[in-house]
Amino acid sequence: MLNIRRPRRNRKSAAIRDMVAENSVSVNDLIYPLFLIEGDGEEKVEVSSMPGIFRHTLRSLLKEIEESLALGIRTFCLFPAIDDAKKDKMATESWNHEGLYLTAIREMKTKFPEACIMTDVAMDPYSSDGHDGIVKDGEILNDETLEVLGKMAVAQAEAGADIIGPSDMMDGRIGYIREALDENGFTNVSIMSYTAKYASAFYGPFRDALDSAPKSGDKKTYQMDPANVTEAMIEAELDYQEGADFMMVKPGLPYLDVIRALKESFDIPITAYNVSGEYAMIKAAAEKGWLDGEKCMVEMLLSFKRAGADAILTYFAKEFAQLQQK
Ligand code: PBG
Repeated sequence: MLNIRRPRRNRKSAAIRDMVAENSVSVNDLIYPLFLIEGDGEEKVEVSSMPGIFRHTLRSLLKEIEESLALGIRTFCLFPAIDDAKKDKMATESWNHEGLYLTAIREMKTKFPEACIMTDVAMDPYSSDGHDGIVKDGEILNDETLEVLGKMAVAQAEAGADIIGPSDMMDGRIGYIREALDENGFTNVSIMSYTAKYASAFYGPFRDALDSAPKSGDKKTYQMDPANVTEAMIEAELDYQEGADFMMVKPGLPYLDVIRALKESFDIPITAYNVSGEYAMIKAAAEKGWLDGEKCMVEMLLSFKRAGADAILTYFAKEFAQLQQK
């Protein structure tokens, strides 16, 4: 005898399925990452491993933001590609007010005050060593790096950043940056901590886009071991105590369990970073005709919401927003 309960009844029509859907993705959840390069024209260059994603000059960046705002995307995360000649061991270009990044933030805020701008705090785009911290005799110095991160964060806040995003994984950085911001009068500037950032191979296309791969060694002494989840809870506890407003898990797709674990233990919003490699693998398979890229995109974004993410940082933001308008 078949059980009297027939779960299929709740799936019998689109109306019922939509009525009982437990999770949904909205453009309000999305943060759109954008890559910035030097140049005066509108010439944007596609990232070869990320079809549909470009390295923008300031002018094409502003155009991209205008189009995205029209689609309902309101939060943007900006990453710079810095000329090699401007890189040094201390990442001094990162607090140059006339430099590429801070100039762009000021322009974005002036032109689109309604846009919410999230920044990236880490030394790697500006570092001649390609690492997120100061390198000395092959070691990454923690506490000395905090001073650089503090200067970078304050400079970004001065330029108009709404949310500071430390992606470096140095110990104590959230507390250090919070104090630096507060001391400089930026008590209203938020911090979205890259709380559980793993030493992942899924960042490959991003490092191509920014030319920011480490010159020697890897990032395993500061980014987390993919085998660990308890360690993510320690990172989260520290970030919470140090004053983070949001926590991020990165990458997203291979770490859905970590998103869930943080969501169950902490009462601040959790963001999933749907990283470059996750984007690239769907795009590559879709190009080959092996997957339906659009359907896989929606299913993947939904998986973050199901896992407990409140927000999603994703290269799919614009494509998803366009799909919603169809
Ligand atoms: C570096 C940084 C990385 C990403 C964001 N910030 C790469 C890294 O840690 O080497 C990767 C994002 C992506 O792959 O989409 N501070």
